[in-house]
Formats: sequence, structure tokens, C-alpha cells
Amino acid sequence: DAPGALPFDLAGVRILISAGGTREPLDPVRYLGNHSSGKQGFALARAAAARGAEVTVVAGSTSGAGEPAGVQRIPISSAMELSDEMAERAVTADVIIMAAAVADFRPVVIADAKIKKGTSGPAPIELETNPDILAGLVQSRKRGEIAAETVIVGFAAETGDDTGGVLDHGRAKFARKGCDLLVVNPVGAGKAFGTEDNTGWLLSTAGTETALPLTSKTLLASRILDALAPLLPQR
Ligand code: CTP
Ligand code: CA
Repeated sequence: DAPGALPFDLAGVRILISAGGTREPLDPVRYLGNHSSGKQGFALARAAAARGAEVTVVAGSTSGAGEPAGVQRIPISSAMELSDEMAERAVTADVIIMAAAVADFRPVVIADAKIKKGTSGPAPIELETNPDILAGLVQSRKRGEIAAETVIVGFAAETGDDTGGVLDHGRAKFARKGCDLLVVNPVGAGKAFGTEDNTGWLLSTAGTETALPLTSKTLLASRILDALAPLLPQR
């Protein structure tokens, strides 16, 4: 770098980010969805692009997240579409960040025509389990289908319950998923979903647990990028 020039520490790093919520279709007019706004994922995309990264965002439903400039945006709707896009694009990524809120289940049957109200009351909706995209990417890396150097980052949205708090659930999820970093966010009651601010913990495979003080999703994005940058191979 020229003296005094600001280094773009992620110059040329290919970052693949999933963002927003998935929608699992029931019929041509209805879906099962969630409250994800896509704001944290888009904040990551913007921050990474500002640091020189080549960013691809695979985006589901968003709300008030704006349009991240200077990034490639791939629209998806359902978890299966997201899974396909991530699998295809993972092989050319240096970093994969799963910030999307992926539906755990999808309706078994997608009706071709609008489901009618009828006269016999509501029929139950049968669900099946979506693939765990994050865990699948980690498995692909283990099998060598994705480069071993690829850094994989997950998110965990937790409310805590009578079996443990937010951080307890985050630790257990981190162990289950096998990713390199896990961002643990408390959700519910006005936290995380749709808000401008975020908080939580950043867990690393080195065993560090870094508290993330309540701050803007923009600043939190920078903290996450700061944590993953040293995990990249020397360039
Ligand atoms: N995730 C995924 N595929 C799914 C579900 C989740 O890739 N089918 C990813 C999310 O994008 C996130 C991480 O896994 O990065 C954790 O998602 P979360 O819903 O918190 O965890 P689950 O494993 O689904 O566990 P649970 O919902 O039971 O807490
Ligand atoms: Ca889930």
C-alpha cells in the first residue's frame, strides 16, 4: 500500500452471505415464513464490500433492509432454493456466512390451486424437515468438496428456555454445527428481528467467547468481519 493509504483488508476475498427469511409455500398464495428482516446479513454484505471483498448475497424475504450496493444479489424464496444456491456457490467462496433465517420445516404438499376454506374446518398441515444448510456446508468441507481453507460462519437466534439461557443454547449449537465462528443473538420481545441494533456473543473454535455489546447491525458486522479476517489464509 502507498504510505497513508487505507488498506482494504478483505480485498479480493470472495464472501458468500445468506440473508433474510425463507418462505415455504403452501399453495399459490400462501407460505410459512418468519420475522427475519435481512438487516444483519445486508449489513455484513455492505461492510465486507466496503473492505474490498467480492460479495454475493443470497437473499430471501427482507423488510426495511435496503439494497446493499456493490454486491451481487441472488433472490431466493424457499429453504430448498437457498440450499441449492449456497451449494452451487460455496465452491467459489473464501468465506460463507449463514445469516439467513431458514425455515426448519416445509409443507409436504404444495397445492397447485388455492386451498379453499370449505365447510369442514381447517385441515392440518403436514410438514417435513428442510436440510440443515450450514451443517451441510461443513460436511461438504470435511469431504473435500469445498476447500479446507473456506471459513464458515453461522448465526444462532436463541430465546433461552427452562433448559438453559441464550449462551448455553448457543454453545450447544456451535458444537453441533461445526462451523468456525458462531454469532449468538438473543431474539424475541423486540430483540434482533427487524431492529437496527443487535447484541450477543461470538464463539470461535479457538474457544473464545466474545461478548458483543448492543450496537448497530453495521458495527456488529464489522466486529464479525474482524473476527473472521485472521482465519483467512495468508494472501
Ligand atoms: N440454518 C441452516 N439450515 C437450516 C436451519 C438453520 O443453514 N435448515 C442455519 C442458520 O442460517 C444459522 C444456523 O443454521 O446460521 C442456526 O440456525 P438456528 O435456527 O438458530 O438453528 P437450528 O439448527 O435450526 O436449531 P433450532 O432452530 O432448533 O434452535
Ligand atoms: Ca431453526
